[in-house]
Amino acid sequence: MALADFDIVLFGGGGDLAMRKLLPALFARDRDGHLPPAARIICAGRHLWSQEEFQQFLDKSARPHIDAAATEPQRWLAFCARIQYVGLDATDPAAYAPLIAAMRADPNLVRVFYMATPPSLFSRICHNLAQVGLANAHSRVVLEKPLGRDLASARQINAEVGKVFAESQIYRIDHYLGKETVQNLLALRFGNVLFEPLWRREWISDVQITIAEELGVGNRMEYYDTAGALRDMLQNHLLQLLCIVAMEPPLSVQADSVRDEKLKVLRSLKRFTPSTLAQDVVRGQYRSGHVDGVAVPGYRKEGAPADSRTETFVAVKAEIDTWRWSGVPFYLRTGKRMADQLAEIVVRFKAIPHSIFAQSSSTFQPNCLVIRLQPDEGLQLNLMAKTPGDRMRLKPVELELDFREQFKMPRMDAYERLLLDVLRGQLTMFMRSDELEAAWEWVEPILNFWEQEQTEPLPYSAGTWGPAAASALIGRDGLQWREEVLPEM
Ligand code: BG6
Repeated sequence: MALADFDIVLFGGGGDLAMRKLLPALFARDRDGHLPPAARIICAGRHLWSQEEFQQFLDKSARPHIDAAATEPQRWLAFCARIQYVGLDATDPAAYAPLIAAMRADPNLVRVFYMATPPSLFSRICHNLAQVGLANAHSRVVLEKPLGRDLASARQINAEVGKVFAESQIYRIDHYLGKETVQNLLALRFGNVLFEPLWRREWISDVQITIAEELGVGNRMEYYDTAGALRDMLQNHLLQLLCIVAMEPPLSVQADSVRDEKLKVLRSLKRFTPSTLAQDVVRGQYRSGHVDGVAVPGYRKEGAPADSRTETFVAVKAEIDTWRWSGVPFYLRTGKRMADQLAEIVVRFKAIPHSIFAQSSSTFQPNCLVIRLQPDEGLQLNLMAKTPGDRMRLKPVELELDFREQFKMPRMDAYERLLLDVLRGQLTMFMRSDELEAAWEWVEPILNFWEQEQTEPLPYSAGTWGPAAASALIGRDGLQWREEVLPEM
């Protein structure tokens, strides 16, 4: 479907997200001919840069993030010709004249306002857009995470933005929903008859969702130390993945059908009690260590305040109180400076009820479906099979589906896919206001508990899988994280 002509404004247009993700994503779609010839990109930022200065900044900061191998230099220059830089104080409505001048006046043109700014500015900017007459019925607004820092601030943002834009104009982005394998999970669950009958408490023992990063906080300390892993990753990415795994079949892939089902999952999450908060949540902070053989400093030595209690790791046991999932634990964890860089969903099935072989059933590895989001997008299904020879001995084997191998097609980054959805007006992969609030409602008791307890996060060495308490969290249920289960070969 060809895109209708548009103007897109990136607030925070000189920032890290714009340079690393948004502009490279728009570039890739332009390179492949998706953007209408007249479409404009307007980067709005605080610096009062001239167009030449901004061009130099783009060359230095955005260009390294484009796929250089697939790019001739003229393509980059042609893309840059679409971009105009506007320096303004976005909090001051009187400062919007250059932005108004940069945008086309055609009232039927799609206008996208992308808020790649701190959430504290979202409401102000939306009101200013209304005040200066830039927001109209053809406008769309994209809100980047974190959407607030607790339930009250999220509600406030929703209410304020909602005074300017209708819900159908608001795109709350979670880039994990734009990842190929997450979208493939919908295909796997609802495009095949095989899994759905087994996708329930009778057959599934537990689900593990891990997003592990080898990277530390880097130059994002100013933001990160006020956020922490729970606000940065769990409240959004991990819970969204949990929703896609656990939701009931939606009526269709139409936005509200999917969002209604995700909302039901969030509302069915078992609430924490004082004892489960102490037992089922682990928070950690990395100390120095080695990642891939390279010595790295601890969090507090990387620019965080010396007494920072911000967690760089969090693991949680969640439960969903529904007929389908009652009693099935969902273990969620994420951390920085971990032993590996990976994001995966592990669905573990129950053990066989009885062995007909000489081998005891305890030597059988339960079936396990691994949905790998990164680094290598794919699926792995662990089965038991007979080893060749005259004796009946079974051992674990793996069925592998590598999406890159299977579909030898160029890949799209999550932001490319989601930006196209915004430009096409497709809301399915964006969060609705009630979903956002339900997610905050569930995590907020954890934040309050940490605040009241005033305890330190547990230290873990960089390059490990987090504090030992994370193994104990799952170990209490007689289970292990996937990497702790040594394959018996
Ligand atoms: C972002 C977080 O939303 O996701 C970052 O703010 C994190 O802290 C990033 O590094 C991880 O995304 P990805 O796609 O690299 O796994």
